[in-house]
Amino acid sequence: MAMNRRTLLQTAAAAVLSCGLGRTAIAAGSKSIVIYFSCTGTVEGLAKKVAKLTGADILKLELVKPYAANYSDMTYIAREERSSGARREIATKIPDLSGYDTIYVGTPYWWGGVSIPMRTFLTDHPMEGKTVVPFVVSGSSSPEGAWEDIHRCCPKAKILEGFHKTQSEAAGADADLENWLKRLKLI
Ligand SMILES: Cc1cc2nc3c(=O)[nH]c(=O)nc-3n(C[C@H](O)[C@H](O)[C@H](O)COP(=O)(O)O)c2cc1C
Repeated sequence: MAMNRRTLLQTAAAAVLSCGLGRTAIAAGSKSIVIYFSCTGTVEGLAKKVAKLTGADILKLELVKPYAANYSDMTYIAREERSSGARREIATKIPDLSGYDTIYVGTPYWWGGVSIPMRTFLTDHPMEGKTVVPFVVSGSSSPEGAWEDIHRCCPKAKILEGFHKTQSEAAGADADLENWLKRLKLI
């Protein structure tokens, strides 16, 4: 059936409107969200996969003052922050988390624990009463320090078994990631 210009415009407007409403409805009804920090993209890759597999919303933590572009400078700065207990402020507007019962928390492993931005975020949002599902990427270290940090920051959360890969393993970890989520009955 041929559409005249007016009908075409009305149809397009209705489509835009329904898309917008649809997105709002999904966000309001959603019970889980992936919140992650990633400096060089590895955790981000996993975060997107977790969100896709679980249907969770997804939120990247961006910084008020990003780290120095020079990698060795920023690792040095982050080590100082780690040992002094310093914060790295988050610029991202955090939505009202009261509507979520499951929070996937993704972070790189930095100097024996979670990244400083994630430590800052969890300190401000201790996830009381939430189910926290952590995933961590390291260069080569085992992730125990990250699990300890998350327990310390979120003493009143239910923290499920975490998922860990090294940076070189992460890209090929799709099956392991899916099995982990299935084991936890999250998909
Ligand atoms: C500041 C800093 C500290 C790090 N500390 C460690 C560490 O203690 N042990 C380790 O195995 N990897 C360490 N790494 C490597 C990261 O964990 C690894 O590169 C990770 O994949 C980064 O994730 P991303 O690509 O999402 O930023 C460190 C990286 C940075 C930038």
